[in-house]
Amino acid sequence: MLIDIIAGARPNFIKIAPIIEAIASRKKSGVAVDYRLVHTGQHYDKKMSHDFFDQLSIPAPHINLEAGSGTQAEQTAKIMIGYERLLIEHPCDLCIVVGDVTSTMACAIAAKKTGNIRVAHVEGGIRSGDWTMPEEINRIVTDSITDYFFTTSTVANNNLLRAGTTPDRIFFVGNTMIDTLRKQEPNFIKPGIWTKAGLVEKNYFVMTLHRPANVDSKEKLGELISEILKASQGMLIIFPVHPRTAKILEQTGISAPNLWLAEPMTYLEFNYLVKFAKAVITDSGGITEETTVMAVPCMTLRDSTERPETCTAGTNELLGTDPSAIAPAFSKLFAGEWKTGGIPELWDGHTAERIVDHIIDIFSLMKN
Ligand code: UD1
Repeated sequence: MLIDIIAGARPNFIKIAPIIEAIASRKKSGVAVDYRLVHTGQHYDKKMSHDFFDQLSIPAPHINLEAGSGTQAEQTAKIMIGYERLLIEHPCDLCIVVGDVTSTMACAIAAKKTGNIRVAHVEGGIRSGDWTMPEEINRIVTDSITDYFFTTSTVANNNLLRAGTTPDRIFFVGNTMIDTLRKQEPNFIKPGIWTKAGLVEKNYFVMTLHRPANVDSKEKLGELISEILKASQGMLIIFPVHPRTAKILEQTGISAPNLWLAEPMTYLEFNYLVKFAKAVITDSGGITEETTVMAVPCMTLRDSTERPETCTAGTNELLGTDPSAIAPAFSKLFAGEWKTGGIPELWDGHTAERIVDHIIDIFSLMKN
């Protein structure tokens, strides 16, 4: 059985690492399973891609489609054309896509349209309900043609059931992003900025912003950061800046003695900073999962989340995108009133093994 594993953007790399490891381990113990790693090239900077392969010991991709940047449609088209070409010449049996990025949707469509390749979606079934987000469109389109869903929560299971998915195609397995986190936690690296900025444990914030709704207008981005600076009581804020945000941030002209800008960080350095932060301010989805597992307070600058368990069970709180919600949240944090949270079901570090075992079972049953 040949499995294609698709990875295109930064959060994908974190999610595929344990799946590759689990396949390699089953292969070593004699199971007739192999994989082909397809990098779409959606993220291509060393800091957004290569460094993650390096630190997470992900083998070099077998194929790089080199799709690069572009509008949503351009990027989707380039990935679909490249992946379809590969499948025509060298088909696979199953295509695994992860998460909700453009590469996820584009490769799922290309594989499914061959007519004989099955599609598995890791992190299937999650929904924000916000149709203005490209990621939500990617989730809905991908799930509408997925054969096997590997889910992170019972909320995701219920979303799929409500949409008419038969239960035999839904596998509640947990979270591969957390497999990586649990495995790599002992290897976290103190970044250079720790000494340069004079950071002290639980005495600084980490901030990340990259959602179009927050960063594509300089007025909006400027307003959000100004409000955060006002509420921060002068405590240092470390802000590793995503390439999308960097372009606009420069135009805001914002600077403050307690605001430290940094380039995108490696996985092991970034999570070291998160682990010892007083709190994280973000608009990312994946980071809300990592802060939940590390029990770090998290303020999310979004109106909705596709990961509600990070709020109901975890340390995350949705503040929305209106800057007026920022000051009250910081007051609550400084007053020591932030919730402590717990860990969602099956986020135990063994999700990828469960996924690969289910896949082997499915394909063995089909053969018999
Ligand atoms: C993508 C995902 C998002 C994910 C995020 C993590 C989609 C729709 N969005 O958003 O879900 O949370 O990745 O990072 O797939 N760029 C570089 N260097 C790179 C990559 C991108 O400079 O290595 C630039 C691009 O040229 C573009 C901008 O960053 O101008 C945005 O990149 P893009 O891949 O469109 O989406 P992200 O905002 O990174």
